[in-house]
Amino acid sequence: MSHQRFNIDLIDSFEKIPVKIFPDTKNGSAFVAGEIANLIKEKYKKGEDCVLGLATGSTPISLYAELVRLHKEEGLSFKNVITFNLDEYYPLEREALQSYWSFMHRHLFNHIDIDPANIHMPNGALPKEEIKKHCVKYEQMIDAVGGIDLQILGIGNNGHIGFNEPGSSIFSKTRLVSLDNITRIANAYEFQNISQVPRMAVTMGISTILKAKKILLMAWGMKAPIVARSVEGHLTEHIPASILQQHNDCTFVIDENAASELTRIKSPWLTGECEWTPAMIKRAVVHMALKTNKPILSLTAHDYNENGLGDLLVEKGEAYEINLQVFYLVRDSITGWPGGKSKAFIPAHPERSEPHPKRCLIFSPHPDDDIISMGGTFMRLHDQGHDVHVAYQTSGNIAVTDEFVTRFLDFAVGFEEQFGIDNHKSKQILTDAADFIHSKKKNQMDTKDIRSIKGLIRRCEAKATCRYVGIADENIHFLNLPFYETGEVEKNPMSEEDVLLTIALLEKIKPHQIFCAGDLADPHGTHKVCLDVIFESMRRLKERGDAWIKDCWVWLYKGAWQEWDIAEIEMAIPMSPDQVMKKRFGIFIHQSQKDMVPFQGSDSREFWQRAEDRNANTAKLYAELGLTKYAAMEAFVRWHY
Ligand code: F6R
Repeated sequence: MSHQRFNIDLIDSFEKIPVKIFPDTKNGSAFVAGEIANLIKEKYKKGEDCVLGLATGSTPISLYAELVRLHKEEGLSFKNVITFNLDEYYPLEREALQSYWSFMHRHLFNHIDIDPANIHMPNGALPKEEIKKHCVKYEQMIDAVGGIDLQILGIGNNGHIGFNEPGSSIFSKTRLVSLDNITRIANAYEFQNISQVPRMAVTMGISTILKAKKILLMAWGMKAPIVARSVEGHLTEHIPASILQQHNDCTFVIDENAASELTRIKSPWLTGECEWTPAMIKRAVVHMALKTNKPILSLTAHDYNENGLGDLLVEKGEAYEINLQVFYLVRDSITGWPGGKSKAFIPAHPERSEPHPKRCLIFSPHPDDDIISMGGTFMRLHDQGHDVHVAYQTSGNIAVTDEFVTRFLDFAVGFEEQFGIDNHKSKQILTDAADFIHSKKKNQMDTKDIRSIKGLIRRCEAKATCRYVGIADENIHFLNLPFYETGEVEKNPMSEEDVLLTIALLEKIKPHQIFCAGDLADPHGTHKVCLDVIFESMRRLKERGDAWIKDCWVWLYKGAWQEWDIAEIEMAIPMSPDQVMKKRFGIFIHQSQKDMVPFQGSDSREFWQRAEDRNANTAKLYAELGLTKYAAMEAFVRWHY
């Protein structure tokens, strides 16, 4: 996949707030950390305090990690820093694992030299009748130290800033608010399930935020749509972040994924000159076809002019010629031969025909991503005679309900009894597990034994799916990457051990083809770390220059949550209605992930439904572009390393 670099200083008339785009989260966070560090030092030189407004959530985690690094490695002191956090859940004890108080201490305050007396956070544990007074006092405390010098913000998918949900008044101050359901669903990942997410929060108001002297709003990955609406749309209280258009020193700091819906990135031909590469032409024409509801080959010069593509006609000639060029690109991405078609000479085929059969390695971040995201392709690869291996990267052990543990232990005890095996030990494990589960507190971490049993349950499901597809046991690999094994929702960053385990497997299999979950837009999730581990392993192997790596192609599929933009797809594998059903039954094998899943996310559909809807939608879009209508399609983008 080609990665464009964009001119980060380009601000055009579509954007009403300055936006700085960085290649990734790490660079964006380093920029914001640098701004904070400079301000702290500047203020220190003048003998002044530096007042920071801070945010929580997944977005600033990498910023806080960088600030901690600056403190530990470069001696940045926080002695002259005073902080005010934006918000806190209500009601929630300060010490609760999910409180923002705990979050801030875990990620920042415990690791720097800030004076605890200088830390201010709304208190989510006060009785309701005391909250009003507390909020007034919070505002007074901010004013008393001369106001906030630099406010850090994240942004909710509904455009909230702090917990100022859509509809919040521009004049709002610190207060108790009730949380939007979208927010509760989005934040459910921090809790065991949605019902445990508090319904209210204490938050600084929009007017409190606007009073800050300088504002930096950070957004990564999947926030692209709301970033574009806040920056390019009308100022409206329905999108609280759009009110920042009124502030005279506010900048959005975002990564390339979060920038993808900005006009200058999505449709650069509308904001100035652009280089008409084949990929850019494909993007422009495919989007125009979908927007105008016309198949590609029916687009006219009039459509090009009406949709801001007049320049393309000037540069490349006839509309029909361009239509054909794009049509062929889209058509040639469709193939029933994901491993290449043996002995066939098809120059535009997405995969090489030789060698055949290929050694294929599917990396599955969780034990069910292979079948959910590329089950049809998985089966085709096997049925077409390739040597298919699957590497399950993590154990997936936190996403199993307790009930499964006792059910399976009960089976183990009964099994041993049935076959005359001494079952003293398994009985004891069952009793211990049942006792623990019975007295388990809300959000309490599972014991090591229970975690390992949960991992085993998922491992057996993955093996059963492989058997269903026809994969031999020796081709199934469980990596159990250590970064995942925290027992909590929050995972560790990628470690050396994760990379070494992955390199060892790659060297053993020497695949011709790799498939991995390309969730580039998921900054802190498991999929992103799993992908980083593969990228880092491949980079090192390439540096070493082994012969096999030169002939290894990497295909990215999207995880359970989204699909590639239709214009980006480089290989689309069609599925018949029978194959759709076969895939569905393959997903059903993951019983621990059916019906009642912890950490379900914001989508109430089950995984098989999401997969089917998504695959059917890809097929529908191809048909709308004027290609044959298949029942379903799985989609891939090639990664060039
Ligand atoms: C957090 C806060 C919220 C978050 C927003 C984005 O203090 O006030 O506005 O910034 O919900 O959350 P993440 O970063 O988790 O996507």
